[in-house]
Amino acid sequence: MVRDKKLIVGNWKMNLDTNEASLYLHKLAGMVKMRRDVEVVLAPTLLALQSLSLQIDRRQFKLAVQNLYWRDAGAYTGEVSATQLRGVVDYAIVGHSERRHIFGETDKDVRNKIQAALRNNIRPILCVGETASERADNETNDVLHDQLAAGLANITSDELTHITVAYEPVWALSNGKDFASHPTPLPEDAASVAAFIRRQIDHMFGKNAASDIRVLYGGSANSHNASGFLGAEGIDGLLVGGASLNAQEFSEIIEKAHKGSAVAKK
Ligand code: PGA
Repeated sequence: MVRDKKLIVGNWKMNLDTNEASLYLHKLAGMVKMRRDVEVVLAPTLLALQSLSLQIDRRQFKLAVQNLYWRDAGAYTGEVSATQLRGVVDYAIVGHSERRHIFGETDKDVRNKIQAALRNNIRPILCVGETASERADNETNDVLHDQLAAGLANITSDELTHITVAYEPVWALSNGKDFASHPTPLPEDAASVAAFIRRQIDHMFGKNAASDIRVLYGGSANSHNASGFLGAEGIDGLLVGGASLNAQEFSEIIEKAHKGSAVAKK
């Protein structure tokens, strides 16, 4: 079952050029041991995807795109489609809060992107999460409900098995550098949100789907708080931004995912 493996995703955002990405990957590859119980996914800049796809050992790392356009081809200047990414990436981050809040991506865009990814054999990682003001107004559950209902509308139960949900409270996201000191939820709060997400999935797709879907936590995850989140009930991995840009830090997070699973199996 897919939840037997922890999923650690490094979202490099708009950092590292093609050369830097290649050097970074070389360094990381020397630090990260291949583990059966941990799947590591890297989401570099779009520009570096092609070259990194030739450089990586896919048993060690998989690749994700940070965004895509939902039409397969046509007159859409500046966009890249899931069809063009097919075979290059295994995963696509969809509906990241920076896409939603800086670039005005709507739930309808998110839904279309999820479907485009699935059509092209790319596994979507659907990001959901409340802003600071929504949290202050006690609207977290409503926001998550709406984002899940809209993002997953028209998906079949079979397609859902290819989808991962990432809970990323917007207020917990770092600016890329302050990931070690930025406020985050407590692991038990992330666990109760994961339980809420599974309840929504249960309503939409039934019990089995709810217990099988992978739920990640993201927002200032780092090597110090990783074990807490990874050990929280119902959390199957991490979506890591700032801390994924430091090879030492990221490899420690990956190792913690392995150690945590090793302890859980005893
Ligand atoms: P952060 O970013 O770890 O730097 O907070 C996570 C994300 O935006 O996916």
